[in-house]
Amino acid sequence: MHWYQKKFIPPENPRVLLITGATSGIGRAAARLFAAMGDHVAATGRRVDRLDALRAEAEQNNLPGAILPLEADVTDPDAMQRAVALTLAEFNRLDVLIANAGIGHRGPLVDSEWADIEHTLRTNIDGVIHSVRAAIPAMRASGGGHIVLISSIVGPLPPPYASVYGASKAAVDALGRALRTELKPDRIKVSVLWVGQTHTEFAERRLGQPGKVASRWPTMTPEQVAGGIARALERNPRFMTIRWIDGVFVWLGRRFPALMDRLLARIYG
Ligand SMILES: NC(=O)c1ccc[n+]([C@@H]2O[C@H](COP(=O)([O-])OP(=O)(O)OC[C@H]3O[C@@H](n4cnc5c(N)ncnc54)[C@H](OP(=O)(O)O)[C@@H]3O)[C@@H](O)[C@H]2O)c1
Repeated sequence: MHWYQKKFIPPENPRVLLITGATSGIGRAAARLFAAMGDHVAATGRRVDRLDALRAEAEQNNLPGAILPLEADVTDPDAMQRAVALTLAEFNRLDVLIANAGIGHRGPLVDSEWADIEHTLRTNIDGVIHSVRAAIPAMRASGGGHIVLISSIVGPLPPPYASVYGASKAAVDALGRALRTELKPDRIKVSVLWVGQTHTEFAERRLGQPGKVASRWPTMTPEQVAGGIARALERNPRFMTIRWIDGVFVWLGRRFPALMDRLLARIYG
């Protein structure tokens, strides 16, 4: 039995979450965790067979929360609007958006294919914007909500050969920071998670050069990150790392940029 299958006391008023990129890795682990906690989850992604399997697994395990599989590509604004409309039709409200769908890119900027660069930016920046723009009116109608943007420690700490991915996550950080104030009158909270290296399909699906995974960088499980998302919903941080070690790296990067750049060059060079 996995920890996400353990029994939580179902809440009296289950939250309704929409999670993008729920077909694998962090998004899938988060969908399982919140369904196990008794929340209702609209799980989106392009590989709909995996979303159906997620729902079947939740039903087999008698998880108290429901999973609603919704096929949606985050780069398509209409698809995200549709996903939110279907979530409202099923659950009548939207309390939480976890904008998680993303793709990696690696390689020297000048040698990278423009198609890969564009795909990365469209997924990681446009995709988050389309998801947030679709969710805001539904949250307003629900009386408020919480938007969690899944960024990376690569946002504040971009290593060499990850300039495009780092820039895409720095854009997510800027969006989150501005929206936190902008959406306060709507009672919508906004938190950005700086996730550290996590063992998912991310490395194998990354665009650009195959490159090596930074093997000396400590790795998390997607379930650990899902637990971090649950904590972020409780604590409402502006920015948050899941592990203290990632927080230390981010702090060092701010305080001693030249030192950290040398370290990153050794790890990723
Ligand atoms: N793994 C790490 O080390 C790490 C570290 C820091 C931050 N992150 C961030 O964490 C998030 C989740 O990544 P992961 O590690 O869980 O990787 P993953 O296992 O590869 O999952 C990525 C998810 O994003 C979805 N996705 C990608 N492009 C999409 C699109 N155009 N439309 C809809 N969904 C799309 C994928 O679903 P479909 O392909 O089925 O659509 C998949 O469910 C990403 O934002 C990533 O940048 C990861």
